[in-house]
Amino acid sequence: MAKKMKTPIIAGNWKMYKTLPEAQTFLKEITPAVKASPSEVLLAVPFTMIQPLSQNNDSGVIIGAQNMNDAVEGAFTGEISARMLIDAGAKFVLLGHSERRQYFKETNDLINKKIKRAIQDGLRVIFCVGETFAEREEGQTEEVISSQSKEGLLGIDDLSLITMAYEPVWAIGTGLAASKKDASEAHHLIKNLIKEQVKVLYGGSVNPENAANFLKDDEIDGLLIGSASLNSDNFAKIIALTSEEKK
Ligand code: PGA
Repeated sequence: MAKKMKTPIIAGNWKMYKTLPEAQTFLKEITPAVKASPSEVLLAVPFTMIQPLSQNNDSGVIIGAQNMNDAVEGAFTGEISARMLIDAGAKFVLLGHSERRQYFKETNDLINKKIKRAIQDGLRVIFCVGETFAEREEGQTEEVISSQSKEGLLGIDDLSLITMAYEPVWAIGTGLAASKKDASEAHHLIKNLIKEQVKVLYGGSVNPENAANFLKDDEIDGLLIGSASLNSDNFAKIIALTSEEKK
């Protein structure tokens, strides 16, 4: 079994939720848990909050974005570039999330271009892959995870800025998390494909009750959390689990 890497990552994805005052209160509330934890805590927030949350940020939380355009700059109304995100204080960007693939028709090829641009500009990337329910039912889980991972990382030699996230689409926002065994197998597959020391996070209906089980697994290096990252109590509880792990 792979040896567990040291610092767990607890990442939250706020999607299109919260206003700035709510976000500021949230950060204050989770700060004690973040400071007491050996894990890296990341929050992918809406664009408008990146700058205000990054300025004078003493929460210990690493602030990032949920999307970006693959171009350096250009006439792309409504889009945002990696350099703009960095300028605003973002330290990472979430790419390949299933909601982007599903609702905004992002392909592996586009995600690959975005990943390349992000790392060229020095932005860390959390790169999400995962199969739909139909794909799992049809026995295509391995194939889908492999092609998403390979095509997303095509032509990228230096993976030092990349963290992977395995998020089965059927587990996102459904309350139906993957079993530890299924998650562990998918993580193992991703690590074998990449053949580099890249961390892989599990995401999909993680909550304070099931988080410890995932964190115990040797293949799982952290968590990517949607709805439970919107509530400061829940998120702080999950962060605190990583402190207990270390004891
Ligand atoms: P969830 O979302 O925790 O609400 O299932 C996870 C995600 O979309 O990253």
